[in-house]
Amino acid sequence: MTQERASRKKGSHTATVLSNVQAGECFWKLRFRFEGEAAQAFAGFRPGQFIQFDTSELAIPSIETIPVALRNGARRNVLLRRPFSFSDVTVESNVTTADLLYCIVGPASLRMTTLREGDTASIVGPLGNGFAVREGTRIALLVVGGMGLPPIRCLAKSLSVEHPDITAVAFIGSRTVNALPLEERPAVFEEDLSLSVPTFATLGVPSMVATDDGSAGHRGPVTECLSQWLQENADRPREEIVVYACGPERMLAAVARIANEKDIDCQVSMERRMACGIGLCQSCAIECRLADSDETIYKLCCQDGPVFDAREVVFGTDDA
Ligand SMILES: Cc1cc2nc3c(=O)[nH]c(=O)nc-3n(C[C@H](O)[C@H](O)[C@H](O)COP(=O)(O)OP(=O)(O)OC[C@H]3O[C@@H](n4cnc5c(N)ncnc54)[C@H](O)[C@@H]3O)c2cc1C
Ligand code: FES
Repeated sequence: MTQERASRKKGSHTATVLSNVQAGECFWKLRFRFEGEAAQAFAGFRPGQFIQFDTSELAIPSIETIPVALRNGARRNVLLRRPFSFSDVTVESNVTTADLLYCIVGPASLRMTTLREGDTASIVGPLGNGFAVREGTRIALLVVGGMGLPPIRCLAKSLSVEHPDITAVAFIGSRTVNALPLEERPAVFEEDLSLSVPTFATLGVPSMVATDDGSAGHRGPVTECLSQWLQENADRPREEIVVYACGPERMLAAVARIANEKDIDCQVSMERRMACGIGLCQSCAIECRLADSDETIYKLCCQDGPVFDAREVVFGTDDA
């Protein structure tokens, strides 16, 4: 049987901020507390699902703290909610705690940095369909590109708790070492699979880092690490392996191609700008192949995804 991919108790909820701290050069970690009905709704949050966060009422940080490249756009009104994943969800009796790792890229994420302990936030969710765990899976290959880390970290935790029989291995890619969204960094980034990266090691998941500029771990695209693992483990039955990936579309396209060549199941978490997040505005279309046909149709990233079977997605890049 396939694990439930979505919590059905979606709605508009209020969360209380427990903490909001800068956790790396360009990313922050926000921790929320949900109580009552909201706690119940988010207790069912599945890795890969997302929320729509209203930042329209949040303050703008003081101008001198805003990165120069973002100062022009900082005052833009943020009318639309923004989609985010959770990197961790913890349920304790009537309280659900959730962590959101975010990168500062524009007016909404800038405003999020002004949230303080005790503030409240308006959140719609849980939304969309998360990653599925198919019966018979023995090995989960987790592939991360940059800020694709949150849902994959959430999946790694869920696998370690709910499916201890599945061996997970993580491949974490980024442009350069400072862009790695890791809260704790090892003194040395090993080039091979190891338990040196705390984000995954604390879950018992060995990992391997790859950076485009060689500033940490393997020099080159993270997909080279995935291919190497598959080559070294060519004797493992294909039907026991599933690849789960989240990151830039170019990386997802390359991961999908590698998995397809080896006839391995692969699930990709796609990103689109999302105006509504609930299937109304049609702004988040993804071209998908119809099974056993040359025809394609458009599916909605917010409602049919954001996690898709990689075989059905028509990627808009050269790597597809
Ligand atoms: C399902 C889902 C989950 C996400 N989870 C996270 C998360 O956990 N952490 C995180 O930091 N970000 C996440 N994002 C991305 C996040 O929604 C955007 O970074 C957000 O819109 C930033 O808002 P902003 O106003 O700060 O910047 P904006 O002004 O909205 O955007 C700044 C720049 O980023 C680009 N951009 C924004 N959103 C997207 C998108 N969805 N796809 C491609 N380019 C985009 C814009 O074109 C623009 O160049 C997620 C997106 C989706 C669809
Ligand atoms: S975001 Fe509106 S339909 Fe998907």
